[in-house]
Amino acid sequence: MTAVNLDTLDTPALLIDLDIVRRNLEGMQKSADKYGVALRPHIKTHKIPELAHLQMRLGATGVTVAKVSEAEVMAEAGIKDIFIANQVVSEQKLDRLAALSKKVNISVGLDSITAAEKLSAIFAASGLTIEYLIEINSGLNRCGVLPGRDAVELYQAINVLPSLRLKGIFTHAGQVYGAGSLAEVMEVSRHESKIMVETARALDQAGTFAEIVSVGSTPTMKVWQGYERVNEIRPGNYIFHDAIQISLGVATVEECALSIVATVISRPARERAVIDGGSKAFSSDRGAHGKEMAAGFGIVLGKKATLARLSEEHGIMILDPDEDIEIGDRVRIIPNHACAVVNLFDRAYGISNGEVVEEFYIAARGKSQ
Ligand SMILES: Cc1ncc(COP(=O)(O)O)c(C=O)c1O
Repeated sequence: MTAVNLDTLDTPALLIDLDIVRRNLEGMQKSADKYGVALRPHIKTHKIPELAHLQMRLGATGVTVAKVSEAEVMAEAGIKDIFIANQVVSEQKLDRLAALSKKVNISVGLDSITAAEKLSAIFAASGLTIEYLIEINSGLNRCGVLPGRDAVELYQAINVLPSLRLKGIFTHAGQVYGAGSLAEVMEVSRHESKIMVETARALDQAGTFAEIVSVGSTPTMKVWQGYERVNEIRPGNYIFHDAIQISLGVATVEECALSIVATVISRPARERAVIDGGSKAFSSDRGAHGKEMAAGFGIVLGKKATLARLSEEHGIMILDPDEDIEIGDRVRIIPNHACAVVNLFDRAYGISNGEVVEEFYIAARGKSQ
């Protein structure tokens, strides 16, 4: 598209600063290259095929998704190597997974013999094989078996089933989002890699080989300095960053690529202004895994203002009474959680040097199946 002035966009609108995106992507790719590991970014953050292709062009080996429906969008858009870092158990999804596996190279997580039996039955019936990675619980206490012996025992139980091949092990130390300091982030990062290497060694001793040892979240990867035997990283949020990453100390405002532009629709009091975006634009996300954001629902750029409350279509900003904000003014806000916000919009506008240069259709939004 020909570049258009940012002020011509109606609001609330989702903006992606493409210059910052490129720097964020190149930075993480450089780090992956430096430590000799594959980068398989999670696309749950951007949900946009063009950005997945940009990640691949810059050196990613494939993408990570959480859902079969996200995998379908990425496959349809021409991404050839996809890892579903999640448990897939319903018959409908397993059928769709089998169909996808005929078109692209796809692998999936497993953390139970029950899920493995279902996966094996569908693939064996179709005469297909699928690679799986055992999900390890590195402290998030979500899915995943415990590291070490439990992982080995699961492997041994799965190994007798037809149509499944062990590709490796993976974990996501999402508890890092509850960290109170950068030192704690570093500690979680070390722990995430350490238990994976111990588990890979336990599998060696049991006579098998975890070809892929995969870790990653954005905070744990931003402070990572490589770890013997870990050979794949899966950050997602790093493409945009957000107020949560800033609060953890792993990103700066200048590294945040995603923002929402909104219009002031009311200033009922000196210390209060209302914008035309509420929870349907910003999400109600105040943080993840135990840590609440102190400063409301985002960072209001260039203003002494806090986005303190949201109703569905209204954002209530608390202002410094001397702040010069009038009805009709536009404000830019970095959201708390980029991944959740992208899911709320149909379109995003790519900007460069303050001009709108691209319009993206968010093809994988709403893909929760
Ligand atoms: C399994 C898995 N891998 C990777 C990631 C990416 O982590 P982040 O969003 O911190 O970059 C996530 C995020 O939720 C995840 O659930």
